Amino acid sequence: MKATTSSALDLVTRRQAVLTLGAGVCLPVGAQAQATVATTATEVPALAKAFVPYFPVGAAVTPGQVTVFAADFIKKHFNILVAENVMKPGLLAKRAEGRYDFSQADDIVNFGIANGMKVRGHTLCWHQQMPSWFFTEGGKDVSREVLLGRMEKYITDVVTHFKGRVYAWDVVNEAFVFGEPNEKIDQNNMRMSAFRRIIGPDYLEFAFKFAAKADPGALLFYNDYETQNNGKLDAILTMVKEFKRKGIKIDGIGHQAHCTVAHPSIESLEFAIDEIAKLGITQEITELDIALNSNIMDSLVSEATPDLLAKQAVRYAQFFDLFIRKKKEITAVVMWGINDSASWMRYWPRQRFEAPLMFDDQSLPKPAFWQVIDVAKRHSNTKS
Ligand code: GLA
Repeated sequence: MKATTSSALDLVTRRQAVLTLGAGVCLPVGAQAQATVATTATEVPALAKAFVPYFPVGAAVTPGQVTVFAADFIKKHFNILVAENVMKPGLLAKRAEGRYDFSQADDIVNFGIANGMKVRGHTLCWHQQMPSWFFTEGGKDVSREVLLGRMEKYITDVVTHFKGRVYAWDVVNEAFVFGEPNEKIDQNNMRMSAFRRIIGPDYLEFAFKFAAKADPGALLFYNDYETQNNGKLDAILTMVKEFKRKGIKIDGIGHQAHCTVAHPSIESLEFAIDEIAKLGITQEITELDIALNSNIMDSLVSEATPDLLAKQAVRYAQFFDLFIRKKKEITAVVMWGINDSASWMRYWPRQRFEAPLMFDDQSLPKPAFWQVIDVAKRHSNTKS
């Protein structure tokens, strides 16, 4: 990613013209392009600071960003961090069982702690980014007992290493699948990951038990995308109820919230938040971004037009408005990346143009940023 410096970012110019978008929404026009044309300097407010009355606001980061490229920018705008990739099993334990490389993850965790930030742990069990040794021996699947042993050792070692520094773990990521014909699932819509195939559906319970034992003080989350999907929501609610019935610790649900300018509806996410809240557990927005393509898989957008940026800004404002209204339930909001140039959507599901975050490629605030700041201000004026 491109280097960013705080001096370049602390002061940017912002055209004073606004575009009225109906329903009384006023949007600063083309904030990213205006650095060259505007005459009035406007200080960029710190994003997380604007949300202090409600919840911490964070970002997924890389070790390079915190140590070299964007340390000041990250310190200014975020007060909670998650490692975008380097805390996943495929990177922490790449080579063999019991051989860890914590150095890159430690860079992020230590940076966060040194700067008074909270740090999330992501993730312990997922069907992707697992090391190749984890599930096999001599080219064949290991037995249920062997895999449970490996899972217990991995979770215990990793959670213990970060104990007291990481306040929450995504223990299991993306275990359920609804409406994806190419994914293999069982009769309960559980993804046929290697964990599910070799251990069985109870791998989730074991994962949470191992994590709870390793750090009883950490909050334990189940994390997934499309949590507003009715089928997935039901599966999550059923899982939580079952865990509670059996006395298995689960503290929260992570809504990844990889969204687009058209999907999902605010109402559907609000419904999911309300249903999960009834079970008395916490919730975090763990991977927020809002793609300019209406369908997250599409590559139809080739540039960030003012029109699309305006649509995106309205959506960001609506989502943050929802999160503030649900501030008793939502205990953190984390962006999946610090700026557009660092977004995973630039290379997934293929190389393409996307600009799903609130800061552009140069880390300058986009219309979405100003709208989100306005939402925070509006709520603080009405003392919500
Ligand atoms: C999922 C994972 C994240 C990240 C994103 C996009 O949502 O939970 O860790 O890999 O996909 O890359």
